[in-house]
Amino acid sequence: MATATQAGADGWTSRTAFILAAIGAAVGLGNVWRFPTLAGENGGGAFVVFYIGCVILIGLPLVLSEILIGRHGRSDAMHSVEKVASDSGVSRGWGLFGGTGILAAFLIMTFYSVVAGWVIYYIGVMGWDFVAAFFSGAPFAGALAAENPDQISSRMTDLFANWPLLLVLHAMFMVATIWIVARGVQSGIEKAATYLMPAFFVLLILITIYGAFTGNFAEAVAFMFNPDFSKLTASAMNQALGQALFSMSLASAALITYGAYVSRETKLAPTAVMIAAADTGVAIIAGLMIFPIVFAAGLDAAAGPTLVFQSLPIAFHTMPGGALVGFLFFILIFFAALTSSISLLEGVVSWCINKFGMARATAAWGVGGLMFVIGIGCALSLNVWSEFRLLPFIPNFADNNLMDTIDGFTGQVLLPVTALLTSIFVGWRADRQLVMAETGLSGGMFTLWRFLVAWLCPIAVGLILVFGLFPALLA
Ligand code: TRP
Repeated sequence: MATATQAGADGWTSRTAFILAAIGAAVGLGNVWRFPTLAGENGGGAFVVFYIGCVILIGLPLVLSEILIGRHGRSDAMHSVEKVASDSGVSRGWGLFGGTGILAAFLIMTFYSVVAGWVIYYIGVMGWDFVAAFFSGAPFAGALAAENPDQISSRMTDLFANWPLLLVLHAMFMVATIWIVARGVQSGIEKAATYLMPAFFVLLILITIYGAFTGNFAEAVAFMFNPDFSKLTASAMNQALGQALFSMSLASAALITYGAYVSRETKLAPTAVMIAAADTGVAIIAGLMIFPIVFAAGLDAAAGPTLVFQSLPIAFHTMPGGALVGFLFFILIFFAALTSSISLLEGVVSWCINKFGMARATAAWGVGGLMFVIGIGCALSLNVWSEFRLLPFIPNFADNNLMDTIDGFTGQVLLPVTALLTSIFVGWRADRQLVMAETGLSGGMFTLWRFLVAWLCPIAVGLILVFGLFPALLA
């Protein structure tokens, strides 16, 4: 097994660097695109409350579980689990859930890169618009002032119909990701996170303040925090759990892989809390950034995946300074997406390096290339392949194009299954002393954490998985 890429030779230079990279992995399209989309579609408040419950009771205990596996195993997701298993005297077959996590990361990246391509497109549209406004002496004009809302809206439909452009954008994002991962942990991943994440936070706060002043903040707060539990269907719960896992980058190799680069001295429990809190905080703030703008323009919160791309530019159209803010907004999403995609690729790449003894650059280009190829199918499912169904015999996915099928299958099946296996392994099979020593917890805190991992996670995740996939069982 190659160790040169693991802790020591090329580990994090500091605890701060690790936390920034882990937060960088967690904060991404999941927070600024998928969370508002799902919260909007599922009626707001009740979904948000249930989501936060999932984060605290299921997500947080799992974050700690995954980092501890990585730090003990000191390798990629699969090899780390195998190491913990053999040191605990149980079957190395448990490495399976490391493998399903790696598979999840692989699949997520195929559509993630396509969506990130839309972001690049809108950076171009809004950036060009801002530059034009600036030089015509109106730097604080609303976005796309020369167009009417229908025209702005058709920007997205036009993009979706233009498959060559979609592929070019998808390729651009993939190449940027591969290039950073190929450079390695310290000079690539860590450097990217230490520049991009602070920039992200500054933009996030600025745009939220802007939205609070110019948008309909009160209505957004009511929408997000007044729960109407009649809207909380089994499928909404399944999506909330899947989103909590997705957003914290759980069950998809990242935290195990990054845990391997963490020093022995770092205390894992507070680190886990910081990662979960930062990720959830950003999701909530992203909601408070987006919904005031959406409501002020009288648009529908339940617009779906196009909310951020189709609705927001229309909203920026009518707002003072919308040209500039719109441009900054898409740059913000781009930064978030890039630090996440790096981690998605790294999870798979580090496994290839260890498993096949590949050079880092070879693995990065090879795996990234394969993700790109499957991603082509996702891009084409918006146009020429829109009628193609991959899993027509599974009710949840019968109506989904390839992109929605990969997204739905990872979020609603693969991530929950991997999380379920992780919690059973850490809660029941891994050596108790080993686990306790790695967590650094003792007494009541350890008991509480262990209870959540061993009992609550498997039962809750199992139930949500079964009822989410087979809602007919509830009737
Ligand atoms: N958490 C990322 C986001 O919110 C998406 C994601 C899921 C991810 N699994 C991951 C990122 C693994 C990096 C590694 O956008």
